[in-house]
Amino acid sequence: MSTSEIRSIILAAGKGTRMKSEMPKVLHSIMGKTLLERVVNSVIKVEDINHNYVIVGHRADLVSELVEKKYPAKNVETVLQEPQLGTGDAVFKCWDKLKDFKGSVLVLCGDTPLLRTETLEKFINSHRASGAVLTVMTAIMANPLNYGRIIRDDNDAIMKIVEEKDATPSQKAVKEINAGIYCFDWQAISPAFKEITPNNVQGEFYLTDIIDWSVRNGFKTNAYVLEDNQEVFGINSQKQLSRAAIILKNRKLEELMNDGVTIVDPMMTWISPETEIGSQSMIYPNCYIEGENFLGENNSIGPNTYIRGNVETADNVRIVASVVSDTVIAENVKIGPFAHLRDGVEIKENVKIGNFVEVKKSTIDENTKASHLSYIGDAKLGKDVNIGAGTITANYNAITKEKSQTVICDNAKIGSNSVLVAPVKIEKGANVGALSVITSDVPENALAVTRSPMKIFKDWVTNKLNKEN
Ligand code: UD1
Ligand code: CA
Repeated sequence: MSTSEIRSIILAAGKGTRMKSEMPKVLHSIMGKTLLERVVNSVIKVEDINHNYVIVGHRADLVSELVEKKYPAKNVETVLQEPQLGTGDAVFKCWDKLKDFKGSVLVLCGDTPLLRTETLEKFINSHRASGAVLTVMTAIMANPLNYGRIIRDDNDAIMKIVEEKDATPSQKAVKEINAGIYCFDWQAISPAFKEITPNNVQGEFYLTDIIDWSVRNGFKTNAYVLEDNQEVFGINSQKQLSRAAIILKNRKLEELMNDGVTIVDPMMTWISPETEIGSQSMIYPNCYIEGENFLGENNSIGPNTYIRGNVETADNVRIVASVVSDTVIAENVKIGPFAHLRDGVEIKENVKIGNFVEVKKSTIDENTKASHLSYIGDAKLGKDVNIGAGTITANYNAITKEKSQTVICDNAKIGSNSVLVAPVKIEKGANVGALSVITSDVPENALAVTRSPMKIFKDWVTNKLNKEN
């Protein structure tokens, strides 16, 4: 059993015409991650794979930009295929890069987001254990439409792959399809790429022709039949994209339920595969949770909550009907209904953020409350602070376009409808009277009020009525 190095080649140069979209197919997303990332992330976790080539072509600029941004470690390299002459031509583009490479290559498509690392590992192990020079992954599909069909000889050995468009009626009846994933010894099989021709209905260089080439050249060629054919579901249309998304989220929901999370209504709940949730947590209907999140135990999320980006909650956190992104929340915090937390928020124990409160890029210390109708931006709030309804931190100077900080120290109380014009500091225990506009620092334990004194006009109403009669 050989354990030589493996490099992957991920095909992502096609336009994806059937998506009817300006965007390259592989850049369409499912719950915060593009199809290409979902494939690459499964591949790079496979043991023995240390280098990956992504074949780019259609809108290569956009696809390369994503690869550079998401994989700065440089283990994922893009290779340009221009023009796109077919899947065989796409792999051939790695010819120079692999000239002296002695190991195996794993070829797969960038449009199969349901593929798991464990499945790739099983496939590679089977390839190695069988001693085959080339192994192709196949699956049995009740409806094999549009896939390449696996043609076997009388002894059941794989002979070749025939594309739907080139297939005869009896070949079309075959239910075993090409999953589009191949593992082969590069030095043995690569000469095939100089010999395959675009002699088919689509006039393309078919990668699938290496099967027939390998068999004809006497190399041991195997088919590995996949158990769960959902995994190789390839996305070619918007309808398939939504189907794959549903499969992916259902897979995640099942995992979470097995781990003791209550999902009240799986039909109405979306949770990304990258999210972790502690046991005894309750997820109420209409929650959409995408991105990489770590939610603690005994949380109560929803109904109607959107969590995205990186959100971390400790245990016993309750979030109702709110939007939360890039936020870290400590134990026993209550958020919502209708709160919006975003862009780097840190919330400590026992805090309450209530109705219609927006918090942006701020830290809020223990036991502090902002219960109603506030904007807290670029602010640092201490412990046991009370933010009255309608308080606004005026953090933005529209003339200089600068943002400034508001600091509110421990035990300070801010009266309703106040505006704190940043930069400004409210010292420990200070109070701000309701309806004040605070433009300079307020000292410890002081009261600051800026509203005009209240006036009483005695009998004003009766006098007015008397005058009119
Ligand atoms: C391909 C297989 C088919 C298999 C199916 C599995 C061929 C000829 N056919 O068909 O047997 O059942 O996948 O999903 O290989 N691409 C390039 N450069 C190109 C053309 C395509 O990089 O010149 C990329 C695409 O971006 C895509 C992948 O290759 O990610 C597959 O191409 P696609 O057109 O979707 O092939 P299928 O018709 O699905
Ligand atoms: Ca496809």
